[in-house]
Amino acid sequence: MVQISDKIRIIQGDIVKLEVDAVVNAANTTPLGGGGVDGAIHRAAGPELLEECRDLKGCVTGEAKITKVYLLPAKWVIHTVGPIWQGGQKGEDYLLASCYRKSLELAREHIIKTIAFPAISTGAYNFPSKRAAGIAVSEIIKFLQENELPERVILVSFNKETYQHLQQALSEIFVG
Ligand code: APR
Repeated sequence: MVQISDKIRIIQGDIVKLEVDAVVNAANTTPLGGGGVDGAIHRAAGPELLEECRDLKGCVTGEAKITKVYLLPAKWVIHTVGPIWQGGQKGEDYLLASCYRKSLELAREHIIKTIAFPAISTGAYNFPSKRAAGIAVSEIIKFLQENELPERVILVSFNKETYQHLQQALSEIFVG
């Protein structure tokens, strides 16, 4: 039997280059592109992605929507909107967990086997990286324990600090 720990991988790199079924975009409520992951995904996917995003008619914080990928090597882009960090008392933890859960629900609905997440909210939205890593890892594990799909989740960090926080969060859950 495949262990849950075998279904999660943490890597350092550029999410747009991954050949997975779905990449998750850390978008905004519009969602018509921006900097960070969002900018990288739109640059790599080309202008048709922006056209499709216009038809989405926005996305609420904590929710997720799915589009095609156009020029990206993946098959789907799941756009989710993380919370802007405001000190931790405005439901940020709940909303961040919701981003992971809603994205995974969309993945399951679209029979997506492999999905890659960036560290949602930890860039422009300033969510503390260590706290975000704990929420990301525990929400993903909970979902994988209850669902067959997706089969594999890749957590992509852009820098060493995020990578270490994700590794630490994972080992705290599996080692105790
Ligand atoms: N691949 C993987 N990770 C990346 C990449 C990339 N190509 N580019 C940036 N990152 C990392 C950042 O280092 C950060 O840890 O993704 C994390 C999320 O950062 P942001 O992209 O800034 O996302 P977020 O904090 O959720 O802010 C969203 O930024 O660009 C705008 O339109 C976007 O308004 C929205 C806001």
